[in-house]
Amino acid sequence: MLSSVYAPKDFKRLRVSGDLVARCFDFISPHVVAGVSTGEIDRLVAQFLKDNGARSSDLGYMGYPKSICTSVNDVIVHGIPSDEVILKDGDIVNVDLTAEYHGFHGDASRMFMIGNVSNKARELVQTCQDALNAAISICAPGVPLSEIGKTIEAVVKPHGFSISHDFVGHGIGKVMHDEPEIFHFYDKMWDNVKMVPGLVFTIEPMINTGKPDCVIDADGWTARTVDGGLSAQWEHTLGITEDGVIIFTEKMNSSC
Ligand code: MF3
Ligand code: CO
Ligand code: CO
Repeated sequence: MLSSVYAPKDFKRLRVSGDLVARCFDFISPHVVAGVSTGEIDRLVAQFLKDNGARSSDLGYMGYPKSICTSVNDVIVHGIPSDEVILKDGDIVNVDLTAEYHGFHGDASRMFMIGNVSNKARELVQTCQDALNAAISICAPGVPLSEIGKTIEAVVKPHGFSISHDFVGHGIGKVMHDEPEIFHFYDKMWDNVKMVPGLVFTIEPMINTGKPDCVIDADGWTARTVDGGLSAQWEHTLGITEDGVIIFTEKMNSSC
């Protein structure tokens, strides 16, 4: 059940892969603005990964055609970058970037707000980031996996937003998607499964202004809110240490 448990030497590799993902976000951030297509952002990521000896974990995964996912406004996850999708003032967009470097995967996603964004959209984006950070803060050896979903619910529910139940976080490491599944809502199934040192997984809550449910576009990937409501997501790759948690998909400071 907990197949994504890794040794300390692997944590060093995961840290390097995660750092690369974070640096790629820094590289693309100035370009995620009104007038730029999601296809162009995809090309920038592909070039950065190539230049740094890494590869996109997404490209070719179950036939996925691009190097990243770009999910705009009502898209919950797995939006396919396209030259036809041009970012405009008021949009919110999630860029989800998974890279493999020297055999280890780092998976993270961030929201970008394009120009003047509505108060509601801003609250959604902020609440989702708060939910991820709150969930990360409770991770430690001995903590049941169900605490993650419980913590996310406690942050999201007071705002009246819904949590997508259709997509989960996941174990990760030498493969992109591994066990365990990480639920972003409370499920008693995980009350008895406790975090152990070495466990590596993602937390990636998706929250919506309207209903939690999704519909999938004809492309077989793009998952949209069923009611056209806005959706936001943030994601990090994490590792459980002897006494807490490490976020792999943050930049390393130069002293490391
Ligand atoms: N990065 C996504 C995740 O968080 C996976 C995308 S798979 C793809 O798990 F094929 F859609 F790219
Ligand atoms: Co993920
Ligand atoms: Co991801």
